[in-house]
Amino acid sequence: MKVKVAILGCSGRMGRNLIQAAHEHTSIELVGGSVRTSSSFVDFDLGELAGIGAIGIKTSTQLSQLAAADVFIDFTSIETTLENLTWCNENKKALVIGTTGFSDKQVQVIKQAGKTMPVILAPNTSVGVNLMFKLLQVTAKAIGDYTDIEIFEAHHRFKKDAPSGTAVKMGQVIADTLGRDLNKVAVYGREGITGERDRETIGFATVRAGDIVGEHTAIFADLGERLEITHKASSRMTFALGAMRAAFWLNDAEAGYYDMQDVLGLKD
Ligand SMILES: NC(=O)c1ccc[n+]([C@@H]2O[C@H](COP(=O)([O-])OP(=O)(O)OC[C@H]3O[C@@H](n4cnc5c(N)ncnc54)[C@H](OP(=O)(O)O)[C@@H]3O)[C@@H](O)[C@H]2O)c1
Repeated sequence: MKVKVAILGCSGRMGRNLIQAAHEHTSIELVGGSVRTSSSFVDFDLGELAGIGAIGIKTSTQLSQLAAADVFIDFTSIETTLENLTWCNENKKALVIGTTGFSDKQVQVIKQAGKTMPVILAPNTSVGVNLMFKLLQVTAKAIGDYTDIEIFEAHHRFKKDAPSGTAVKMGQVIADTLGRDLNKVAVYGREGITGERDRETIGFATVRAGDIVGEHTAIFADLGERLEITHKASSRMTFALGAMRAAFWLNDAEAGYYDMQDVLGLKD
């Protein structure tokens, strides 16, 4: 049986790719998608939005109009996602969150919702990126104690948050593996007379330029050699397909707070 899915924020860069991915997926039935009440895409055909031709499904402005869906996929904004989370919880719907940039406090709100609903928080839904998280764990365990660890990320000029949710998650995975508190060891950019590098720190560097879809590198540097683990996304469709995989998995899940490592079976 197909999993019934609705796309929240379907007129966005990700939303349009999600429409196409859902429409073409053999195990997913696209029920609809949401836009703002003030959007110029109200009552617009989803297929036209995605550039794949009309598919006979119109955009909605209220989540209640999408109640036929079992799983909601949300790539909107922080405030909207938190509102959508409350609605999904009250209406017993599962939610895949692709939106990024949540504060620790907001993540706690999402975790709390996971006690009564199935929810996935996935700052990056690409399968390759989530395999990278696993590689970071293995690498940090082997050489993280004596190497300098730096994280680099680059994205398109329209991205609103920095560093990216993926970069933060990379730092979190490494810090957790090494028993460090990321809030204490993270260094976000450097300028002026910074002094020598403190071994315990994890540095973050950000580039915003043009149409870069998403690049992430973790550097583990010693004297004489360095290891770099890099992921490069060249199309948003990779995130959209990963989100479909997450939705399909979440449809069968009990109430809980999950991530892509759960979806891909990468948890120890
Ligand atoms: N998890 C991942 O793998 C991944 C990958 C890429 C991006 N992201 C994240 O996903 C989010 C969206 O990224 P994007 O590049 O697609 O941004 P975007 O192009 O700005 O899309 C966001 C969309 O959400 C819509 N929206 C906002 N509030 C809404 C509401 N109340 N009701 C309906 N629609 C609403 C916006 O509509 P308006 O245009 O009318 O404001 C816009 O179309 C960001 O947080 C980004 O960092 C995650």
